[in-house]
Amino acid sequence: MDILVVGSGGREHAIIKKLKENKDIKKIYAIPGNGGIANDAECVNIGACDIEKIVEFATDNKIDYAVVAPDDPLVLGLVDALEKVNVPCFGPRANAAIIEGSKVFSKNLMKKYNIPTASYEVFDNMDDALNYLDNSPIPTVIKADGLALGKGVTIAFTRDDAKNAVIEAMQDKKFGKSGDTIVIEEFLEGPEVSVLAFTDGKCVKPMVSSMDHKRSGDNDEGLNTGGMGTVAPNPYYTDDIAEKCMETIFIPTIEAMNKEDRTFKGCLYFGLMLTKDGPKVIEYNCRFGDPETQVVLPLLESDLLTAMMATTNGTLQDTDIKIKNGNACCVIMASNGYPVSYEKGFEIKIPKELSDSVYVAGAVKKCRKLLTSGGRVLGVTSVAETLDKAIEKSYEKVSKISFDNSYYRHDIGQKALKAYGGK
Ligand code: AMP
Ligand code: GLY
Repeated sequence: MDILVVGSGGREHAIIKKLKENKDIKKIYAIPGNGGIANDAECVNIGACDIEKIVEFATDNKIDYAVVAPDDPLVLGLVDALEKVNVPCFGPRANAAIIEGSKVFSKNLMKKYNIPTASYEVFDNMDDALNYLDNSPIPTVIKADGLALGKGVTIAFTRDDAKNAVIEAMQDKKFGKSGDTIVIEEFLEGPEVSVLAFTDGKCVKPMVSSMDHKRSGDNDEGLNTGGMGTVAPNPYYTDDIAEKCMETIFIPTIEAMNKEDRTFKGCLYFGLMLTKDGPKVIEYNCRFGDPETQVVLPLLESDLLTAMMATTNGTLQDTDIKIKNGNACCVIMASNGYPVSYEKGFEIKIPKELSDSVYVAGAVKKCRKLLTSGGRVLGVTSVAETLDKAIEKSYEKVSKISFDNSYYRHDIGQKALKAYGGK
């Protein structure tokens, strides 16, 4: 089979490496891929949102199956366009990808179907939002309705910060059209868990739970980033909680989407907060998470292509999704200055024996050299029997990988380790 993977991050590299375990796959193309992915797939220089060109490429190259990994092309309808020319795809159609593409949609869906989430108000008029904030509980959370590269959420601890966030979104257009409508929601507290689940619209089969580290600095200080590291499983996500989430969140969400005539197929990402009143949804993503994928897929025992195709064909109920024992830890090596501004173009040196553990995100190949080209440069993953061993192994590998201006957090997994009481 010839497979196309759309996207260019560490997540896509992890997907491609996992797909390569399937011997029926003859060739993998990546659109656009990156300098590191080029070692595992043939990179094609087309933008991930250039729907017309991707459709043309898939038709010309007789692609048997396409995996659309990032949110933007999913929300824009790449799956719909590929299906029209008979290329089966992994990922939701646009009318289901809206579950991530519009916070107003997802919040209204949860309200309508009684899926636990933070209480909220929606505003498309700035003065109304500012007036509301005069008397609303603080802290509060301001969210741009549309996609905003993961930057559309502000946790405001003062009324002034909350108002500024509203003005930035609605008047200054910090997120473009994505901030024309906003959600102001209740501030929730508790451990956060990410659960990535396969679904064919009929059943839901979760993969191992994970914990992201979103802040740029150690001890969860600094700015919000796309994610500086992950561990799996997440110690807070006990079997009891998993059962409760399946009953009160996962199945109700799939059923709600069906009732709305928006059947979701692919990977549904549940961003959960385990509050004292039970698990609640913080966000849905219509795709694999990044960098969650870099710990979740190494712990997936089952064949990835088989699982993906089962979501497309509606045969997930009969497909085993097995998870390996053990723990995984991924440490992101970034460019110093991320997520604000950073220099790039520095040579990355990765010892050959570590290439299996490295998922490249922001790098280009020039004259046979791998050069940094993004904020998050690469992820280093290890799997071990215990979490402390997985952490130790990942940091040992990190110490052997070098590029100028590199930056990484030193405490990935420490919170999880504490929750386990040591190991
Ligand atoms: P998101 O971009 O939706 O993933 O939100 C980014 C981060 O903001 C989440 O991972 C949470 O840590 C935090 N967050 C979002 N919504 C809330 C909320 N209602 N209460 C507390 N924290 C939140
Ligand atoms: N790590 C969070 C996300 O993929 O959106």
